[in-house]
Amino acid sequence: MNSTEWKEKLSSIKDGFSNSAIKSNAGNIDALETEYLGRKGLLMLLLRDLKDFSLEEKKILGPLGNTLKAEITSKLAELKNKFGAGSASSLKNDFDLTLPAFPYSKGSLHPITQTINKMTEVFLKLGFSVAEGPFLENEYYNFEALNIPEDHSSRDMHDTFYSAIKDSKNKDWLLRTHTSPVQIRTMEKQEPPLRIISPGRVFRRDAIDASHSFVFYQIEGFYVDKNVSMADLKWTLETFIKELFGENVKLRFRPSYFPFVEPGAEVDMSCVFCNDKKGKCPVCKGTGWIEVLGAGTIHPKVLKSCGYDSDKWSGFAFGAGVERFAMLLFGIKDMRVLYENDLRILKQL
Ligand code: PHE
Repeated sequence: MNSTEWKEKLSSIKDGFSNSAIKSNAGNIDALETEYLGRKGLLMLLLRDLKDFSLEEKKILGPLGNTLKAEITSKLAELKNKFGAGSASSLKNDFDLTLPAFPYSKGSLHPITQTINKMTEVFLKLGFSVAEGPFLENEYYNFEALNIPEDHSSRDMHDTFYSAIKDSKNKDWLLRTHTSPVQIRTMEKQEPPLRIISPGRVFRRDAIDASHSFVFYQIEGFYVDKNVSMADLKWTLETFIKELFGENVKLRFRPSYFPFVEPGAEVDMSCVFCNDKKGKCPVCKGTGWIEVLGAGTIHPKVLKSCGYDSDKWSGFAFGAGVERFAMLLFGIKDMRVLYENDLRILKQL
């Protein structure tokens, strides 16, 4: 190769590099560098050929070759810089595995859901199963089958949201005021013995305050078998409350009226919050007792309306407000905290 041929080759390498540089991207910069400046790169091989030229020729050709080498080197640096973090080599440098990860917020179960789960778990251990009923009920299931006939004054105990729609039997549809209709729906479908727990939303036309809401949650429980008595109810509720609040809790049954049970009771638990500061405790208001649920043995009329022989079968039922339990378990004083969904508060629960 004479010096003219060498210069032509140098110039074609220069053109070839310029063309490739224009088309380059983050993914092929490293390959381009190897192609031209690598140990067997086009320019490096040409520079190696200089050894066969005379000293005078070397003095002329050498600087030409070195100038192109410097140009290519600086162009490659510029391209790497341009493609920045995207190029494979800079990714390697910028990615620091030892840095802590970006924080992300993990969701958690709402306190009402946590409470339902806790309450349900106890009953599952006692052999109960979970059933659900519809929010939109008709008067038969919400009232009549539960021994609350039309115009009976006990309907006044429930401020009901009626819909303007009637069902095929001319009964009004309404938003259920309690979970007790699930007793009827279950007994219509299943033969005794049965042990059922039914958590869910209920609706009443109540004004909102620290202990009322127009939507709230109840858990219904009922057990039908032979010879079920108040004693079974007492044992079951005592076991349930002790699981949630500890062995030292006592229960008190106060006679009360619910048309679908006979006898009926309101059940209080001893206040686990005041201990010896009785008289000043804000939770039990100094009484030492907290009302937690309504209960009783199922009225024979209710069993009959579901097609059960009330001489053969008997049962108990209870209904508990979930918010009340959530407030006791989490130490919440105002029920509205459970619905406002302020994450700053919910995150603490
Ligand atoms: N359904 C009643 C209520 O909402 C509670 C209850 C259920 C009472 C079962 C007795 C038996 O007030």
